[in-house]
Amino acid sequence: MISVKELKAANDLIKAYEKTFKKPIKPDKNKKLFTGVDLGTAYIVLAVVDEDGTPIAGGMQFAEVVKDGLVVDYNGAMQIVKKLKAKIEKSIGAELDLAGIAYPPGTDINDCRAIKYVAEACGFRVEYTMDEPTAANNVLHIEDGAVVDIGGGTTGIAVLEKGKVISVTDEPSGGTHLSLVIAGGKGISFLEAEKFKKDRAEHKSLMPMVRPVFEKMASIVKSSIKGHKIDTVYLVGGTCCFEGVEAVMEKQLGIKVVKPDNPMLVTPLGIALGSMREGKKEELLYE
Ligand SMILES: Nc1ncnc2c1ncn2[C@@H]1O[C@H](COP(=O)(O)OP(=O)(O)OP(=O)(O)O)[C@@H](O)[C@H]1O
Ligand SMILES: [Mg+2]
Repeated sequence: MISVKELKAANDLIKAYEKTFKKPIKPDKNKKLFTGVDLGTAYIVLAVVDEDGTPIAGGMQFAEVVKDGLVVDYNGAMQIVKKLKAKIEKSIGAELDLAGIAYPPGTDINDCRAIKYVAEACGFRVEYTMDEPTAANNVLHIEDGAVVDIGGGTTGIAVLEKGKVISVTDEPSGGTHLSLVIAGGKGISFLEAEKFKKDRAEHKSLMPMVRPVFEKMASIVKSSIKGHKIDTVYLVGGTCCFEGVEAVMEKQLGIKVVKPDNPMLVTPLGIALGSMREGKKEELLYE
């Protein structure tokens, strides 16, 4: 399990990144910038860090252009990434060039290529590719445990041993299902349910309605980690912003569950940090 100190360091870094959405930082001209491009089922998120790993800027937009790691609306995805990139460039007064992308665990290499093409068509030089749990672990620094990423469309589970991903599962159950249940239960539209669900003040009263969905996710996690010695589960992904998900998981799994303060931003930031680290390695090679 990561220590309290390590979790605090991860939370501080995520918080610093979160702040840059509203208050981007003017980068040092002598330092290289690295962008993480996260194309998800529900959100497209960009994260920019400098060569020291300091968060510089961020941006996100709700988008239905990717389904289960597959780009289903290439032009739509491109337009959003282009817009987010231009907005960040304007706000920091610098151009973004080097970038990394991540693919959901278990996706086909061809689907991953489509994600890369979208970023490249927007003017990024995509030099770094990683799987999503590895990206998340660039922020969390877990040695042994399981990363559970509950996003919009899927729940991805990765088992880590000695800091490396050794087994992955990705099952179709995510925040979209929560919204569908809320929409049905309250007699409102899907988009209204999406908005409603993100209001923290509503989480407590919504819990009885969505608990079965979380329990289903927990049962997926349980069967995915079977046979592995896991003492801690780490929650990432936007759906884990829902208050109380950690308690439901902990009860169902019977093991410790750790949730960073803003689980939604872990993977995008981790893509940028992973790119930065790889970029540094290359520099050392060519020196
Ligand atoms: N504050 C919140 N409370 C509850 N749910 C939230 C909150 N913020 C975002 N979400 C949900 O999180 C989901 C998006 O999370 P994330 O950005 O991790 O997914 P994604 O990467 O786009 O999807 P996937 O990983 O399945 O491809 C959406 O279903 C969204 O409604
Ligand atoms: Mg995701």
